[in-house]
Amino acid sequence: MKTISILNHNDLTEAFALEQLCHTLPWSKMTFFSNQGDRYLNLKLTIDNKIIGFCICQLVADEANLFNIAIHPEFRQKGLAKELLNKLIEELMSLNSNKPIASLWLEVRKSNDAAIHLYHSLGFNQITIRKNYYPTVDGKQEDAIIMAYTLTL
Ligand SMILES: CC(C)(COP(=O)(O)OP(=O)(O)OC[C@H]1O[C@@H](n2cnc3c(N)ncnc32)[C@H](O)[C@@H]1OP(=O)(O)O)[C@@H](O)C(=O)NCCC(=O)NCCS
Repeated sequence: MKTISILNHNDLTEAFALEQLCHTLPWSKMTFFSNQGDRYLNLKLTIDNKIIGFCICQLVADEANLFNIAIHPEFRQKGLAKELLNKLIEELMSLNSNKPIASLWLEVRKSNDAAIHLYHSLGFNQITIRKNYYPTVDGKQEDAIIMAYTLTL
């Protein structure tokens, strides 16, 4: 059975293992465990109680920032990331606050075709490019594409 729900403290060890499996340059354990808490809306996607994907999203004033999303390599290109982000957008739009979240921002490596395709397919727009923003595995640098999605009711 597939579910999407809040990623909570008890999930972090399992989710961090997925982080390490999914990214060429994964976050450190300290970074992963500290991007949690009151200012975050983090979701997990499970299949038969196993975490297959997660997203990490920070809320600041009327903006949300998608810091991380990952889907297990064996479950990719089945629409799961799109499902997870659609759920995140739905949750952001239904947050009960006197200052609604107006936009969802993210940055992505210029070479990450899968992620860029995912974000375009959801309706994110490219805002700008940050030159040489990311380190690469071979010790060089890579541009970041900054994208945003407008949350409308
Ligand atoms: C990026 C990532 C989350 C996509 O997950 P996914 O579950 O495979 O994505 P989906 O199946 O929901 O695909 C969504 C769209 O992107 C497209 N897509 C996904 N992977 C693709 C690929 N490798 N090449 C081209 N398009 C791709 C799909 O065809 C789909 O397009 P459509 O809606 O027009 O049909 C996954 O590849 C991943 O975990 N990568 C490693 C971590 C990462 O790079 N995260 C993003 C930066 S933090």
